[in-house]
Amino acid sequence: VKKVTTHTLLKMKANGERISMLTAYDFSFARLFDAAGIDVVLVGDSASNVMAGHETTVPITLDQMIYHAQCVVRGISRALVVVDMPFGSYQSNSDVALASAVKIMKESGAHSLKLEGGEEIIDSIKRIVAAGIPVMGHLGLTPQSIYKFGTYTVRAKEEAEAAKLISDAKLLQEAGCFAIVLEKIPATLAKQVSESLDIPTIGIGAGNHCDGQVLVMHDMLGINNEFSPRFLRKYLNLQEQITGAVQQYIGDVKSRDFPSENESY
Ligand code: KIV
Ligand code: NA
Repeated sequence: VKKVTTHTLLKMKANGERISMLTAYDFSFARLFDAAGIDVVLVGDSASNVMAGHETTVPITLDQMIYHAQCVVRGISRALVVVDMPFGSYQSNSDVALASAVKIMKESGAHSLKLEGGEEIIDSIKRIVAAGIPVMGHLGLTPQSIYKFGTYTVRAKEEAEAAKLISDAKLLQEAGCFAIVLEKIPATLAKQVSESLDIPTIGIGAGNHCDGQVLVMHDMLGINNEFSPRFLRKYLNLQEQITGAVQQYIGDVKSRDFPSENESY
């Protein structure tokens, strides 16, 4: 199979072909998504929420992200694998950022990294890119800064924040990023940014004018029905299906229906 590279994504944008991206955190789901034809698999630090049960993405560690990335990489034969750099692994200075980036690349076998932020971290991004590591940017709602913002509501609705986002997006492109995630911003702003850049934008809650879309796998598969933001389209209701399957199994065990003679040796 022909592997998806950062160059593939640039060509897709130039040709007007939309980019599909999903998160994955383990081998089995990564393999399913890759075989289904997904273009990009993100080992998101949303692992902190959906894998570890934390309330935010702040606590997940570099080594925990590397473990998830290793598992995902083993399941991939075609898709581009992007790994989130976790909170604390790149914010202090560009030496720390570069060391963390190199560690993830060496130990996980992933193809690229994603960092949250614009101008504040531009020197770190430049050094990581200069080291030969492809970088995806992430602007708008940046969950690692949740305690600065206070809520997970839509970002950049006001002029000043929108202007900074537009300027950050240009800075990221100039710094050599191969793509930018735009999270939870007005569709009109996402359209403006997407049209002003040569590199693709990947939206989540950012409307239909981005060059690609990303969702968290647990959200789009309906594993947790309590999370239902407007931007989320649920393709399955796994919470219902899994609950039903487990209840059937429990009943079969209690009633001694399982295992049958055919299921015994
Ligand atoms: O961690 C994550 O899942 C993400 C996506 C929502 C873009 O960063
Ligand atoms: Na993330």
